[in-house]
Amino acid sequence: MKRTHNATDIDMGQVGEQVTLNGWVNARRDHGGLIFIDLRDRSGIIQVVFNPELDDQSFHMAESVRGEYVVAVKGKVQARPQDTENPNLKTGKVEVYVDKMEVFNTAKTPPFYIENGIDVDELLRLRYRYLDLRRPEMKDNLLLRHRVVKSIRDYLDERGFMEIETPILGRSTPEGARDYLVPSRVHPGEFFALPQSPQQYKQMLMVAGMEKYFQIARCFRDEDLRADRQPEFTQLDMEMSFIDEEDIISLIEGMMPRLFKEGCNIDIPTPFPRISYDDAMLKYGSDQPELRFDWEIVDITELVKDVDFKVFASAIAGGGVVRALNARTCGSFTRKEIDDLGRMAVEFGAKGLAWINVTETELKSPITKFFSEEKMQTILEALDAKPGDLLLFGADQADIVARVLGVLRLNLGRRLNLCDPNQLAFAWVLGFPLLEYDNEEKRYVAVHHMFTSPRLEDIPLLDTDPAKVKARAYDLILNGVEIGGGSIRIHRRDWQEKMFSLLGLSQEEAVEKFGYMMEAFEYGAPPHGGVAFGIDRLIMLMAGRDSIREVIAFPKTQSAACPMTNAPSAVSPKQLRELSLKLKEK
Ligand code: AMO
Ligand code: AMP
Repeated sequence: MKRTHNATDIDMGQVGEQVTLNGWVNARRDHGGLIFIDLRDRSGIIQVVFNPELDDQSFHMAESVRGEYVVAVKGKVQARPQDTENPNLKTGKVEVYVDKMEVFNTAKTPPFYIENGIDVDELLRLRYRYLDLRRPEMKDNLLLRHRVVKSIRDYLDERGFMEIETPILGRSTPEGARDYLVPSRVHPGEFFALPQSPQQYKQMLMVAGMEKYFQIARCFRDEDLRADRQPEFTQLDMEMSFIDEEDIISLIEGMMPRLFKEGCNIDIPTPFPRISYDDAMLKYGSDQPELRFDWEIVDITELVKDVDFKVFASAIAGGGVVRALNARTCGSFTRKEIDDLGRMAVEFGAKGLAWINVTETELKSPITKFFSEEKMQTILEALDAKPGDLLLFGADQADIVARVLGVLRLNLGRRLNLCDPNQLAFAWVLGFPLLEYDNEEKRYVAVHHMFTSPRLEDIPLLDTDPAKVKARAYDLILNGVEIGGGSIRIHRRDWQEKMFSLLGLSQEEAVEKFGYMMEAFEYGAPPHGGVAFGIDRLIMLMAGRDSIREVIAFPKTQSAACPMTNAPSAVSPKQLRELSLKLKEK
């Protein structure tokens, strides 16, 4: 009994036709003389009706089927009597009167309901992912993902991009996250690394003259997992030759509206706002600013530099800054709530959190006593403080103050529901520093990655003041999530060597690990650049979910395991022997 239609193909237009349907029993209702089954297939649900007078045998079969049995039914489409129509179903105006049925397979009772919005432990959902994915909202997420990836391919194909696969077995390189390693049997004691991204390969493809490359690329990073981080995830990876930042930006500003239109029928305006890295760090305390609410952090270092308050004075004397956030309407916070904010500040590295509660009649605060009335007035003006506001102050090195006030801003914004769930706030962040000094390692590390080009006008600074050099890098942020990032690359051997040496790589190390790349740059490497987007994150935001696990068919748990297959798992002594590996005794 092969299907003639999908469930939701059937509508008033088919009334009177004989159809055959295949699918799962979503629900069964026994109404004495009649049995109703909601039959579900990938397209959706349709009601089918069993009447013993029409066919006794299928009626009896229908009596014994249970949820998730797999069945075929054949019958005639009829319009439902008017008062039995179901407006919640696409097929709610019709039903199929069955005259033949076949049971393909029975099913055990599932461990959770196959329906939307279930409140079930995620571990159980992941263990029975094949049942979880039967739930319409999960199927819809995968369908959305499919549509978006198809739009990506169409859009880039129309613009002359070639999709090229790059190796999964590559070599381990320093920097970035921890690598996933694969032991080589043929070369005992040697390992492949799974790619953290196809970065070096795509640059080699530019040297190879491919000019416009893209790939829907699986990437692997052994890092601590979060809601928007998986050990394996998917990038839309791109690279182009003979282009600059503006070409990449306009390519993406053409693509995003199309993905949102074709994926979820949302119109998004372009161009996206642009914000400098320095501004993002200053005003929002983050290089991934959440712009759906307009609270801004204000630097008041200049204003308070002559104030006799040791907390501020010693921060400034140590080369630090004083900044403040006006937490609007938080003036109603209790002392305990304010103390909790203080604890959060300390958890993120602050030494304390000074505050002023602005009421109609007075300023409640442990610190106002240090300020003249006049000075206080200037500060209140700088922060546009009104009765009902709570002012939060951070005094420390700029990066610590940015982080702490940024975290408080985000926390309060979410807590006060200041982010409209239907709003999409895109922004480019530009003007990243090329390098940042790592106090633990006592050397510079690349902010983006070590193949990113400095701004040409900053090249002389590489010798004198590397921390001041800006990168030709760009990130795209959506609702406070970094959905993509990239850069114009170094394409000359001498600059790349300079970069490696700034990063503390010895000449030998550089040659050993990246010799092929520097050699390639000596064979006519075109100027090039690119970008990569986290497809999982993009789809998560499109689907309005708060974890990328919701849009990945078979994700790993927070502890990087798969509860369905029980991967990772032990392997046999023979396999270990073949790989010349010995496990440490436990
Ligand atoms: P980057 O490391 O910024 O750049 O990665 C690009 C994008 O991939 C997504 N992403 C992740 N998504 C889920 N889980 C993870 N663990 C994870 N890590 C990153 C983010 C991020 O913006 N080769 C460069 C790109 C380039 O320069 O062209 C790169 O990989 O959305
Ligand atoms: P103290 O004089 O140390 O009692 O601090 C007075 C107020 O300043 C308290 O509310 C502290 O939480 C706060 N405070 C202390 N250190 C800092 C800092 N580095 N930044 C902001 N506020 C601070």
